[in-house]
Formats: sequence, C-alpha cells, structure tokens
Amino acid sequence: MSQQIRRVAVIGAGTMGHGIAEVSALAGYEVVMVDVSQDILNKALERIKWSLDKLAERGTISKERVGEVMGRIKTSLSIAEAVRDADLMIEAVPEKLDLKKQVFAEADKYAPPHAILATNTSSLPITEIASATKRPDKVVGIHFFNPPVLMPLVEVIKGAQTSDETARRSYEFVKSLGKEPIMVNKDVPGFVVNRILIALNSAACLLVANNQYSVVEIDSAVKYRAGLPMGIFELQDFTGIDVGYLVGLAVAERDPMLRVPCPLLEDLYKKGWLGQKSGRGFYEYKGGPYERANIPREAGEKVDLTLIFAPAINMAAWLLRNGIASKEDIEKGVKLGLGWPKGVFEYADEFGIDKVVEALNQLYSRFGYELFKPDPLLTQMVQEGRLGRKSGRGFYEYGAAGTVEFKEIILRKEPPLAWIILNRPQRLNALTLTMLEELSRALDMLWDDKDVRVVIIRGAGDRAFSAGADVTSFTGPLHTYYFFLYNRKFQEAVSKIERFPKPVIAAINGYALGGGLEIALACDFRIATDTSELGQPEINLGIIPGAGGTQRLARIVGLGRAKELIMLGDRIKADEAYRIGLVNRVVPKERFEEEVRSFAMRLAQGPPIALTYAKYALNFGTQVPVDIGLLLEAAFFSMAVNTKDAQEGVMAFLTRRRPEFKGE
Ligand code: NAI
Repeated sequence: MSQQIRRVAVIGAGTMGHGIAEVSALAGYEVVMVDVSQDILNKALERIKWSLDKLAERGTISKERVGEVMGRIKTSLSIAEAVRDADLMIEAVPEKLDLKKQVFAEADKYAPPHAILATNTSSLPITEIASATKRPDKVVGIHFFNPPVLMPLVEVIKGAQTSDETARRSYEFVKSLGKEPIMVNKDVPGFVVNRILIALNSAACLLVANNQYSVVEIDSAVKYRAGLPMGIFELQDFTGIDVGYLVGLAVAERDPMLRVPCPLLEDLYKKGWLGQKSGRGFYEYKGGPYERANIPREAGEKVDLTLIFAPAINMAAWLLRNGIASKEDIEKGVKLGLGWPKGVFEYADEFGIDKVVEALNQLYSRFGYELFKPDPLLTQMVQEGRLGRKSGRGFYEYGAAGTVEFKEIILRKEPPLAWIILNRPQRLNALTLTMLEELSRALDMLWDDKDVRVVIIRGAGDRAFSAGADVTSFTGPLHTYYFFLYNRKFQEAVSKIERFPKPVIAAINGYALGGGLEIALACDFRIATDTSELGQPEINLGIIPGAGGTQRLARIVGLGRAKELIMLGDRIKADEAYRIGLVNRVVPKERFEEEVRSFAMRLAQGPPIALTYAKYALNFGTQVPVDIGLLLEAAFFSMAVNTKDAQEGVMAFLTRRRPEFKGE
C-alpha cells in the first residue's frame, strides 16, 4: 500500500469503475464507489464478487480473501460523502467533458486539501478537467486498461499543471496495486498506447480502402508474421467499431497528427455494424460472442509489414523525441497495453530505420497526412547510419556487428543473426573450392559465437543463390581418385551446415542449381523469392549431383520427386518447389531480406540449446533405425529438460508471458 494513500473514492461504477475499485480493494485500500443509482452500485458489487470468486477458483487469491476484500468496498450515491475523507479520487464516469468537470468541481469542494483527484479518461484533456478545480497541481490522469483486474498496464498522465509530487504519488499508488505504471509527461491526446494504436490502424485502413490489401491479409500478416495477439481489424471488432470511431474523432479534433480518417470505420459505424457485439463489423460473427474471426495463417504473405508498422514507429519516435515518455516506458506500453511480443522500437530496428523512413515517405506522398511525415529522429538516425539490427545500432545496440570479407564470401554479423554471402555475383555465385573452404571457415567462426543464434546463407546480387559448381574446374585430365577426393571435400563443406549446432537458413534469391541447391538442401530451412528457380541439372552434363543431392533431396521431397528432378534435370520455379515441399516459404522479391530476417528472428528467439537438439535429432535420428532414433530423441529430450531455458519456458507458460531464452 502507498503510505500516503489509504482511502480511495471511485466515481462511476461501470465497466472501468468497478474494476478499479476491485484492484484497489485487493491491494488493501478502503474503497467507496459512487454511481447514480443503488441498482447500478449493487450490480457493480456483484461483478466484483464474481471476479474475486474467479480469482479464488484459479487460486490467485484465497477464498477467505474474497470476503475480506468485499468488506473494504462501500458504496454511496453522493460524491461529497465519498470523497470527504478520501486521499485519492479516481473518476470513471462516461467520456463527456462537462460531466467530468462537474464531478471534479464537486470532488474539489469536499475532498481534503491533500487529496489527489485522478481521471481515467481515454481521450479528454487532463488540463481542461483540472481547470474545474482549485487544485490543478493535484489533478492527474490514471488511465487503466480494460479489464483493470487483468491488464497490467496503467498510464499515469501529467496535465499542464500537475505537480511532480502528484505524479510521483500516483505512480507509487499504481505500483502498490501490483500494476505496471508508465509515466506520460505531457497531456497529449491518446497518451502513449492509444496514440501508437491509432497510428498502427491508420495505414492498415488506408491500404485496405485503396484495395492494396484486404482486411484478412493485413490481420494475418500482423498476427502470424509480426506476432501481435490480434489482427488490426479483428481488435477493432473486439473493442467495438463505435468505440474506435468515436474515440478517433475525439482525439483527431484535438490533434492534427491524429487526423487520419478511416473511411471503412465510418462506413461500418453508420451501418451499425459495431463489431463482435453486433455480430458484424470488419468480420462476420455467426457463432456467438466468443467466436474468433477466421484469419488464415498464410493469407498475409504478400503484406509489407514495414508499411503497416511505419506510422506506429513514427508516432513512437515522436513521443520519444518530445520527451512525452521514455523509450523503456513506450516499449512497456505496447507490450503490456497491446500485448505486442516486442517493443515498437525493437520492431523498428528489425525492419531497418531506412526502410521505415522509405515506407513513411511512400505513405506521405500517397496520402499526405502529417502522421506519415518521417519524424526528425528517424531521419537523423538514417543519416548517422543507425539503421537498426543490420548496422549493429538503432534504437538499441546489438552485440559486435561487423563484416569480415573473405576472398569469395562475406560474413556479416548482425546479432543475433549472421549472414554468409556467397560472393561471386558476376559468375552467378558459382561454387569454387576456395568458396567452400571459406564457407567452412565462416561456420567455424560462428560455431560457438554466443552473439549469433541463426545463420543465413545467401548469394550476392539479385540473380542467384548459386548457379552450381564452377564447371571450369572440371576441365582438364584428372585422375578419378583426385576427383573423388575433391568431391569428398565438397561434401564435407556442405555437411558442416547440417552438423552446425544452430539453425541455418538458405535464402534463395534467383537460381539455386546443382551444387548451389545442394548447399541449400543441407540448410534447415529454404526461403525463396517468387522468381527463383531450383534444380539439379547435372544429368544434362552427363554427370550426377555430387554434394549430397541424391541423398538430401530424396529425404526432403521423397524418392519419386527427387528422381524426376535429378534424372530429368529440369529446373522448377519457386511455387512448384513450395508445392513439393522443397522450399518452406516463397516471398515476393522486393521483400526478400525483410521476410528472411523476420523468419530468422523467430528462430533466434527460440531456446538455442533445444533448437540444437531438435536439429540433431531430426537430421541424424532419421538416418538410423527408428529404435535408435527414438533413443537419440530420449537422450536429447532429457538433456533439454535440464536446461535453465526449459525452466524459463515453463514459468513463462504458466504466467502467460513470453519466454526469454538465454541458451543456458
Ligand atoms: P461505463 O458507461 O461503463 O460506466 C460509467 C459509469 O458512470 C456508469 O455506471 C454511470 O451510471 C456512471 N455515472 C454517470 N454519471 C455519473 C455521475 N454523475 N456520478 C457518478 N457516476 C456516474 O463507462 P466506462 O467504460 O467504465 O468508462 C468510464 C471512463 O473510463 C471513460 O472516461 C472512458 O473513456 C474511460 N475508459 C474506458 C475504457 C473501456 O475500455 N471501457 C478503458 C479505459 C478508460
């Protein structure tokens, strides 16, 4: 409990008010709830009791505590009476400025001079509400999220005249509730979280309205590729189209930066399709209130995520540059308030700040809204080369990034990723022994490098991954035995990929033929651009694949398909390769790097040790009789269970947070 606050008056006992009263009483405060009728107050008490019973059922609190907590909540029909000996008032009446000012004027009159008067408003100016009182220094925003019992985040907002002391005490109060406060230093419309949410919705809406993408495509992309808990449109259906539309109008009126009208939302609002609660919004809900929108996993493949996230990143940069909230608080805001798996600045660093600025310029020139004008902080970062992960520095610093140039490959470290680039673009990255030796050396360097969790192999330029072994090396008389040795060396280098203890991705941008494809086959995953072509054309030269093609290709696509590819020697296009299971993903050429990176980042967030074991059990357990394979699996399983990462994974699962795996 906060030392200076003991008694709390909650004005308005609706959706938010009853929840705020509940969390306050749970933390030990004496609470008085006020509303306009005893009926409403009784209902609020019932809702609180129901919720406490649920917590007791789940074992979060003991059964005895339900009664004790209920005992701390009184009700009253009079604001004057409720605030008379309150140390803190939290107002949660409907979102109407006049009404709120009335409540504050009355509370100001009857509350003791030291009492803090807080509002839970989502969109009204704190400063204006404070003007109804004679203590604007003690008026503050304490913005809970719905439902307060479950949502950990609370924004504490300073109005123009709120004193530091009031802000500090409010912050401490929120912490004493077991909630996570973030400090919003200026009373800007939408504060931190809703501003970022509005910005995220903006481009998505315009791009759908302009037929670039569909609702489902965007929702699928943000859910399954970016990892947000709900799609952008799905979430709006869930909160209510009316809520989003009206809050949007209210904040847009106060702030030109938030003036990004969404024609789709207005249309739905006018039709009365208010989302899940009315059975229809962006989606149709025929199966009752708990039905989830139908969003297929693959639907979002072609969506440019940078374009969708860029306005939210721009907004976050604006908040940071103007000192409205700290970087840490903004990150906490989107993680705890919106359930994002990563902070908005983390996304920015992954997309690349230069790419974000490009996307913003594109949106700005198309739609002209102020929100899309790249923030000076972002343009400055680009000028300084702080481009995010790929340059080792963006909003965050990343391990030792750097580039090592070999003769025929480049090794680029971009922790937690590393790129090995086959670098003979003028020869379509045709493989030479030098290149293979260098590939092998690069893998050795990365073998136990703690900064690097995933390796990506790609070709330089945009025409080929690798078009195969350099056939010029086959000319000239050479004894069969030396060919054999040469071939074994080739195989050794390729096999090292398979034995490498971390996931390796082949990023195929163009031709992956012959030896080139064989390198890709030894990788754990293959991601190809839609214009790529793959094949084992050796038979056309009168030879056969020599770096694992006959073995690995058959294991990946089955004997029949492998025979067709190897014995006919035809090249196939990426979509055909996807169909037969030869590649894991096909992505548009223009988004190649971004897609590969985001796939790799998902792996990089996984438990490194368990990933090694899984890779080995899969690669080698399938080469031996099944009983031995199962033994191998059991051995790896028991080794994985005994890691700290496994403890972390289970803890995170139980407490419903994302695990942070350290490779320990
Ligand atoms: P609500 O309509 O569920 O509850 C408001 C309550 O205030 C009602 O029970 C009403 O009878 C009562 N009330 C009306 N006039 C009153 C008066 N003069 N004195 C005492 N009580 C009075 O509204 P809700 O959703 O709880 O919203 C309340 C505030 O919280 C609004 O400012 C809203 O913007 C904000 N908010 C709402 C969130 C939500 O998801 N619903 C999330 C965060 C903030």
